[in-house]
Amino acid sequence: MSATPEQAAEVLRRGELILLPTETVYGLGADAGDPKAVASVFAAKGRPQFNPLIAHVASLEAARVIGQFNEAAEALAKAFWPGPLTLVLPVADRSHVCDLARAGLDSVAVRVPAHPLAQQVLAALGGPVVAPSANRSGRPSPTTFADAAEETGAAVGAAVDGGPCDVGLESTVVSVLDDRVALLRPGAVTRRQIEAVVGPLHESGEGHRSPGRLTLHYAPDAPVRVEATEARPGEVFLGFGPGVGDPRWSLSPSGDPQEAAANLFRLLRAADREKPAGIAVSPVPSEGLGEAINDRLRRAAGYVG
Ligand code: TXA
Ligand code: MG
Repeated sequence: MSATPEQAAEVLRRGELILLPTETVYGLGADAGDPKAVASVFAAKGRPQFNPLIAHVASLEAARVIGQFNEAAEALAKAFWPGPLTLVLPVADRSHVCDLARAGLDSVAVRVPAHPLAQQVLAALGGPVVAPSANRSGRPSPTTFADAAEETGAAVGAAVDGGPCDVGLESTVVSVLDDRVALLRPGAVTRRQIEAVVGPLHESGEGHRSPGRLTLHYAPDAPVRVEATEARPGEVFLGFGPGVGDPRWSLSPSGDPQEAAANLFRLLRAADREKPAGIAVSPVPSEGLGEAINDRLRRAAGYVG
């Protein structure tokens, strides 16, 4: 049964966890200022404590309390918030997002989600909510209420049903530190959209500064094979584009990257339930949203780094 945003905020105040719908994926939420609650997020996910969490806030104004915004950060926030962009910034007030949530770093990840139910939970709580994707560590993120409940539902005091997530891929993570803007995780906001606001991104293997990028990720139980042209015996084949594979198992029968993003994790999870010998995925062009789709697929297939 779905909790109301007010009930969810009450549960957060008691130091318990919630399932939180966002426009990207479902999150496992806790009061960002409560170290005990935050510790139970790491425990429920089986997440290493060196991997920091994203603080979700209701507005740019609320984000300014937590992180330090320079001109580039302001411009990105104004262009993409509320929405699927996370900014990694020098930390401002340390008390609002506890040390454990930041993994002890001097930076903090912050985002303003667009989903109305997430907004209502944040308004009802009146403070930041840390919310990693609601999967157990290493597995594909949940993009439906049922998938979220299956992953970490047992650990929460309230679960808010927001239906299927619109975007289906996690937010783009961009760091704005030392006057350098770098892409740490490709996501729903594309590289080109970011560069249209702040100019060329800083390239220097900066992705390795995002601790969450160092481990195997997004992986179903079945082995994943990318850039596949057809299924081998016992494999489920996820196609992309007209006439490629069974339409029921297609990321997008019309070849639309946005549709493929929205279907990616749901289909990986559904394919895994068939207990196949493997999951083969046809090539997806890497322009635009395709960069994030291919990033998740490569990681699901075990290519890390
Ligand atoms: O769309 C999303 O971002 C979802 C929804 C629920 O908002 N959340 C999400 O959180 O994907 P999570 O914890 O699964 O991914 C957060 C990523 C990790 O790769 C983490 O390492 C990185 O953000 N991160 C967080 N704080 C950081 C920091 N201070 N410096 C560098 N990377 C950071
Ligand atoms: Mg995650």
